[in-house]
Amino acid sequence: MNAAFRPRWRPELEDRYADLTARVGDTVPCLEWPLHLPWIDAIRELKRERGAVIMAHSYQSPEIFHGVADVTGDSLALAQAAADCDAEIIVLCGVHFMAETAKILAPTRTVLIPDPDAGCSLAASITADDVRALRARHPGAPVVSYVNTSAAVKAESDACCTSANAVQVVEAMGADKVIFLPDAFLGHHVAAQTGVELVLWDGRCEVHEQFTAQQARHTRETFDARLVAHPECPPEVQREADFVGSTTAMGAWLERERPRRVALITECSMADNLRHRFPDVEFIKPCNLCPHMKRITLPNIHACLRELRHVVEVPEQVAAGARAALARMLAVGRGERP
Ligand code: 13P
Ligand code: SF4
Repeated sequence: MNAAFRPRWRPELEDRYADLTARVGDTVPCLEWPLHLPWIDAIRELKRERGAVIMAHSYQSPEIFHGVADVTGDSLALAQAAADCDAEIIVLCGVHFMAETAKILAPTRTVLIPDPDAGCSLAASITADDVRALRARHPGAPVVSYVNTSAAVKAESDACCTSANAVQVVEAMGADKVIFLPDAFLGHHVAAQTGVELVLWDGRCEVHEQFTAQQARHTRETFDARLVAHPECPPEVQREADFVGSTTAMGAWLERERPRRVALITECSMADNLRHRFPDVEFIKPCNLCPHMKRITLPNIHACLRELRHVVEVPEQVAAGARAALARMLAVGRGERP
């Protein structure tokens, strides 16, 4: 295959994608479409040929999120979609732990990631040895790990959680004390909502840890905006916010509240990907990019589908333990006792 493949602009693309460009025209200016549409068209064609499904996290750039994804959402929604997926090939447009999660939950599928170096500072903050050492220090306490962890860390855990279900999962453990890792700030958010004692790890999201309470107050006062923060933000930022929740919960809050103006204290693309659903809401967005999420591009999605490259593999002895921890999380979501 030709590594320098580059699809060309053709005038008929303008008509073919008129609906898409109209729908997200507020977010992606017309100046950009001649660059994106040839890739979007080529990816859609390859996707059909390969029988592939493209899943994209809410932090993916709008031309990916709106242009080529079949499934979009937060990390919980993507995990559930992978578990239910019957396509032969899943292309995971997100970071590596998300692709690993998809492979663990859909072991017979081929899972591809467009850039295998798309990591995560939280996942990098803790190893399986660290989890074993924590268990030794707190005998009998179950381990709940955020999905933003490697498969090896999941395999050492009793259950996984995402930012959307962390409180429910911690409480479902039925223990007085739970080891919660690796995000200390999400841990503070959960601890404030439950009577369970949490042992925390000092992991941080390199994007969300940068936000400060002073910035949040300044944004509220300058723009007269309501504030919505991701629970990976520092606790003092969460205290300034009108609402704290996962990326999907942010959309649900906007549906309920319909504020005139809102600032989303999270990754930049979140506002881009929600904006078209709320034409009456003015979004103030910080343009803080997750450098890992932004490694995924239309050209590398095309290359991964064309060459079936960057296949995600998880050794079965690790996958089995990680799958059990993820299954407990999904069981909590279904209202079952894990
Ligand atoms: P969600 O669980 O809200 O999708 O967040 C994942 C993530 O990596 C946020 O930084
Ligand atoms: Fe990881 Fe933070 Fe990027 Fe989410 S935004 S993938 S937690 S580094």
